[in-house]
Order: sequence, then C-alpha cells, then structure tokens
Amino acid sequence: MPESPVLNPPKESLAEQLEVGETLPIAVEPASIVIFGGAGDLAHRKLLPALYNLYLDGLLPPRAAIIGVGRKAMTDDAYREFAKDGIKQFSRRPLDDRAWQAFAADLFFVTASIDDDASLASLGSRLDVIEHERELPANRIYYLAVPSSLFVPTVKQLHRARFVAKGQERPWARIIVEKPIGHDLDSARVINDAIAEVFDERQIYRIDHYLGKETVQNILVLRFANSIFEPLFNQKYIDHVQITVAETEGVGTRAGYYEQAGALRDMVQNHMLQLLALVAMEPPYSLDAEVVRDERLELIKALRRIEGQAVDACVVRAQYSAGFDMGRPVVGYREEPGVDPNSRTETYVALQIWIDNWRWAGVPFYLRTGKRLPKRASEISVQLKEVPPILFNANTSAKLDPNVLSIRIQPDEGFALGISSKIPGPRARVYPVEMDFHYGTTFGGTSPEAYERLLLDVMAGDQTLFMRRDMVEAAWEWVMPILDRWSAQTSEPLPTCPAGEWGPPEADRLIEATGRRWRNP
Ligand code: BG6
Repeated sequence: MPESPVLNPPKESLAEQLEVGETLPIAVEPASIVIFGGAGDLAHRKLLPALYNLYLDGLLPPRAAIIGVGRKAMTDDAYREFAKDGIKQFSRRPLDDRAWQAFAADLFFVTASIDDDASLASLGSRLDVIEHERELPANRIYYLAVPSSLFVPTVKQLHRARFVAKGQERPWARIIVEKPIGHDLDSARVINDAIAEVFDERQIYRIDHYLGKETVQNILVLRFANSIFEPLFNQKYIDHVQITVAETEGVGTRAGYYEQAGALRDMVQNHMLQLLALVAMEPPYSLDAEVVRDERLELIKALRRIEGQAVDACVVRAQYSAGFDMGRPVVGYREEPGVDPNSRTETYVALQIWIDNWRWAGVPFYLRTGKRLPKRASEISVQLKEVPPILFNANTSAKLDPNVLSIRIQPDEGFALGISSKIPGPRARVYPVEMDFHYGTTFGGTSPEAYERLLLDVMAGDQTLFMRRDMVEAAWEWVMPILDRWSAQTSEPLPTCPAGEWGPPEADRLIEATGRRWRNP
C-alpha cells in the first residue's frame, strides 16, 4: 500500500517557526486506532477532527488505520462521509480536499454489537485484513468512546475474543478510557478492576481532556520555567486561589447522563481537581510521567476532606432556573427535556477547599463551576497578599488592589498579572494595570485541541497527561463524603440561580464570609 503523504503545510505561526526549547521529536509507530462508539457524538465532534488535524501536521504515524466500530450498519464510504461532516463542522482548520482524500483512505467502519459474543470476531478478521494490506504491525489502540456502562462489557469482549495479551510489548495494545470512570468510588473500582484484568496499567490511558489543553499544560511551564512565580507560590505570599470553570450552555441533549451526574461528578471530581493539582502541586523532580503523576496524586491526597456538617458550610450547590443566555430567554434546568421536574441534580457548585500541607496551610482555594452562567470562561486566579497598610496603601478606605496572577484557560488563552502603577502626574496616585499575554497575538494560528495532544501521546506511549488508577480513585474518595451528605439531604431546599447570573447568593456568602470576593472572568 502507498504510504499516506505527509503534508508540510506552510509555517503559519510563530509557534511553528520556533525551535527554541523543543525537545525530541515525538516518535509514533504505525498503528490501528479502533474507536468503539466510532459513529457517536464524541467521534464526530472531537476524535475524527483531532485525527485529521494530526494528519495535517504530519503527526499521524506514516502508516495508520482508523476503524470506527458501532452498532449501525455503515459502509466505509458512509463512515468517511460521517467523518467529513464532523471535520467540516468541528475541525479547527478547514477541510482541505487533497489532504482529505489521503486521510479518508485510512478510515474504515465495522458494524459490531458489544452484547453479541460473536461480533468481535468480524472486527478481528477485518482488522487482520486491513493490517495485512497496509503492512501494519498490529499495534492497536482501543478507544472506549461509549457510555461508561459499556466499558466493562467492551473490555470483557476484547478479552474473550483474545484481542489483547496483558502487558505485551510488541505489537503493543493500548486502551483509552473516557470519563466518567464510574459514578462513585465503588463503581470506579469495578471499572478499574475489570480493565486491569485485561490491560496492564502501562497500557491504560484514562482521559481527562482538560489535561490536554495547551493552557493547562502551560501551568507547569509558568510555575517551573520562570523564577518569578514559584518562590511566591506558598502560604507566605498567597492570600487565596480561585478556580472558575463557567459555561453558558445548559444541559442540552445530555439530560440522561447529567441527571445522574451533576456538576460535582461531571466537572469537580475530574477537571477541576486536576487544575487544582497542577496549580498547587510540588515541583516534580523530573518530567517523567510517573513522577509528574505522583506529585499530582500527592496534592489530591493532601486535600482536607469535607464531611458531615462541613459540607453544608463549605460547599454550595444550586440549579439554574429560567433566565437568559445572551439576551435570549432560556428555560430552567427542571424544564429541560429529559430532566425530572423535581430533580435535585446540581448544575452549579462552589467549594472552599483547604490543602493540609506545609506550602498551602491556611490558604483557601475556592472552586466553582456551573452551566448557564453569563460567560464561557475558565480561569485560575492566584491572589497575592495585600501590601502592608503603609505608604501607598495607608488609606484604609481605598485599599490598593492586591496583585493577581490570572491564568486564562479558555477562551482568550493567556495570562495576566495585575500590578499597581503610578498615574502620570504630580501626585502619587496609584492605579491597577495589567501585564497581559495572549496566545493568539503572540503565537498566532490556533492551538491544537486537547484531543489532538492526547491522541498523539497515546500513540507515542506517553502517559503523563492521563489519569492513573490511584488518582481517579483518590479523587472519588475525596468527593464521596460530599455526595453522601447530599444524598442524605432529600428535603432541604436546593438554591436556584437564574440562567445568565454568576451563581446563587449562598456562593457569594461562602467567599464573602472570609472578606474575599469572587473574581468574575
Ligand atoms: C465535559 C463535561 O467533561 O467537559 C461537560 O462532561 C462539559 O459537561 C465539558 O461541558 C466542558 O469541556 P470544555 O472543554 O468545553 O471546557
């Protein structure tokens, strides 16, 4: 078979021209990527566009096959149309006809149902033929882009049909598992146990797509490639840290899943705890995947558990009621299609968290996330302590703004440092100004999507940006007492907040009780 041409698009941005600081090229070997749920929403919106962009960048292995697997009867050509449609709608770069023709030749579809013991046999024989024709070495990536209730059955079928030899190095087999991994600690353990029967931990890539975002990867660079910040990142200099992940969208068509999840399971147990881990962890002694993952885990283990009555004091949950999205009236959560009119599922959560270690003792971390908030914006702001009340800060009724480092995860990726500066003129008047960095203006182009980086890392065998089993379980262990408290409170009123507002008054009181305020991005 002819090899896929590797395109060399014109250098379009500073990022592509810069060689500075680059390490070794990423080595990826020829492989087959088998996507269970290949005709589903995730594949359509994220995975196929991500693979196409990797192809455009010449980062897909020189020989590759992408095999969608699903219940639907679909020909390869129909699958290519499905992929093309997803790429047209969701790719960060437009579809280029020449590149598409070459990429499309790598796409295949196999109809198979996980309930049927025999159905993976046809996948196996199809894979053998494709790999033989394309001279692929049978390195395989199995992507579980299916509801989490199908994780265990799919892995069992892979085992039954002898697709995987545990721990085998050549040819290799890797599995990618999407979130949510379980609904609570016990169900997460069941899934992890089932996968561990078939795959060795070194073969397992649990996705938290926030870890694949450029700006999230930049947190460690910001902290450990600059000497200005790290000496300040501790209880001596930091007053508090806020992490906000705000979405304008409502629950959309995902009520079936979201009703069982809620904001704490959907966003905090995974994405937000990972952001917290990156901003607060100790410096790893190397960039080795296990070393970095050990440090992230240590931080999660150092979180003070919020249990019993402390849940009522430190965690606020709420639901959006009818309101507005960009001036357009929208219904409340309980009126959304598929949502129980008496639902107690939270669409908003705010927490006050303490980290019980030397570095962060006494520094509160405030986390909040919600759907139907006024703006789509994710931001981490690290607020330094106030300067002493002397000199320019002597006027207690007009105190200076403290310095704040704001890390904008999305959109408008970048970071800003708020500083006090003198207003020009004869008098000593001080004004808050910002040193502001925008990825868009400095590096140009568009940053790779999280899924591009994550898929590339799986092909390269780098687990740094993935969730190890102990991390997933530690995060569940930490959120369980909150979930337990809530499930015992079946009749307490649940705060509401109109769509388009920044959260319920209870969340303001949570932070204002300590003399601080939410910083709305
Ligand atoms: C997913 C959640 O993990 O992350 C969704 O299930 C949420 O509810 C999404 O909308 C947010 O991701 P992003 O990348 O758009 O911030």
